[in-house]
Amino acid sequence: MSQLNDPDYVREQYATEGNLETRRSVWHPTADGLDPVNEALNAIDRALVGDAHILEVGCGTGVMAERINALPGVTLVATDFSERFVELTAVRGVDARPADICYLPFEDAAFDVVYAGWMLYHVRDPERALNEVRRVLKPGGTFVAVTNGNDHLAELRIAAGGKRDITQFSSETGESVLRRRFADVRRHDLGDPRGLR
Ligand SMILES: C[S@@+](CC[C@H](N)C(=O)[O-])C[C@H]1O[C@@H](n2cnc3c(N)ncnc32)[C@H](O)[C@@H]1O
Repeated sequence: MSQLNDPDYVREQYATEGNLETRRSVWHPTADGLDPVNEALNAIDRALVGDAHILEVGCGTGVMAERINALPGVTLVATDFSERFVELTAVRGVDARPADICYLPFEDAAFDVVYAGWMLYHVRDPERALNEVRRVLKPGGTFVAVTNGNDHLAELRIAAGGKRDITQFSSETGESVLRRRFADVRRHDLGDPRGLR
């Protein structure tokens, strides 16, 4: 188990917004100007057919939730296991609730779309998490997941005395992890991602 998916470390990291805001502050769009958050929002938007129920897991401070909530015809529930992040997301006018992705408090087939942005690499049991996503998705629904590559900010990490982060759900491994649960997996790589989440 790496530090990144040690539940105690992850809970401590996200007990308050400071660490997430610091990570955000060193983030930049890719060299060709693509913003992965915009790309994720576009992927969600493309999946919508008429009115839709969307679940966001690991919503952080609710930045994306606010944008998803503004899409026409959308009913959104945003979840995170950090009570503080649920509070901050609710302030944005989003229906925000505490939940661990491994134990989603929703009925089977409740959502048209599930979105997980930069959070699956933190989950101790990704198989259980993906079973839960699969369970709450309607048949034919869409799961949009975003992650980083293993070389993400590696130079910066090494210069700071750290090492490359090899995670269980990275650009390198995410597609094969998802193929174990979903029949139709479409991968979209953005070049030169310099950001950190
Ligand atoms: C790197 S942050 C990303 C936050 C947000 N999606 C964004 O893009 O800004 C990871 C988030 O996942 C949440 N998280 C980690 N493990 C989780 C779990 N098992 N269930 C629910 N949320 C979790 C953390 O509390 C944190 O808000």
